[in-house]
Amino acid sequence: MTTHIDGNAVASEIRDELTDAIETLASEGSRPGLATVLMGDDPASQTYVSMKQRDCEEVGIEPHHVDVDGDAPADELFDTIETLNDDPDVHGYLVQAPVPDHVDYRQVIRRIDPLKDVDGFHPENVGRLVAGDARFRPCTPHGVQKLLEATGVETEGKDITIVGRSDIVGKPLANLLIQKADDGNATVTVCHSRTADLASKTRNADVVVAAVGVPELIDGSMISEDTVVIDVGVNRVDADTEKGYELVGDVDFDSVEPKASAITPVPGGVGPMTRAMLLYNTVKAASLQTG
Ligand code: GUN
Repeated sequence: MTTHIDGNAVASEIRDELTDAIETLASEGSRPGLATVLMGDDPASQTYVSMKQRDCEEVGIEPHHVDVDGDAPADELFDTIETLNDDPDVHGYLVQAPVPDHVDYRQVIRRIDPLKDVDGFHPENVGRLVAGDARFRPCTPHGVQKLLEATGVETEGKDITIVGRSDIVGKPLANLLIQKADDGNATVTVCHSRTADLASKTRNADVVVAAVGVPELIDGSMISEDTVVIDVGVNRVDADTEKGYELVGDVDFDSVEPKASAITPVPGGVGPMTRAMLLYNTVKAASLQTG
């Protein structure tokens, strides 16, 4: 029997724990606040940002939001960042990516106060993570770790293959899983578009994490029996649905599921965990700034 990992259920438990911590902070006069910044009007980004706002309201975090015109000069976004850095009611914030082409996202990240960087993207926070002294673990990698833990998957001494080397998922997750931390101690292989013989790397793994952004790239022929498969992919593909698209992961669920010992669905796997860990980082940011 393959375990279907329920990201909604695990995320819900985490949100419940956070709700209590938030009430305690609020009763001490510092209700955590999270701001989202959206430059431009990308429909997918608008959806993500409004989900983050709703998540905040559900657990008692004060949501804030700033829209910046997509045609505005980069300086307007930088001014917004400075204002948020100085706002004591905003303990954490994020600038939703992607930003318009005329804005350099790296410059954006460098201007964010590292103590408010709930994405964990600022170079100071990346450096701390790599050094084994993480302040904010990026939300998706942290969510993957929590899902593995909640499913009872031991990572110590295991071979974990990550498909994808992004700054948001692949790189930070690899750095976390190789560390001596409680749920790390794994041997990690990071694959990408230039990897020779990808299937040999995924077949060798006890755990495969697919975070590459290619719909259904990982199929059953690439997986050994009893592998744990975590699908981070969220790909919009054209489909005959009301919205004109459907969401599919990086894993071909139908061919992989029968061989896997455990697998996450898309949607309902990693996605809700990413959202929960953003709330977690916001509570941590508020604690760091008020404690
Ligand atoms: N766009 C897609 N994922 C993310 C994320 O984790 N953080 C931000 N800021 N933008 C994103």
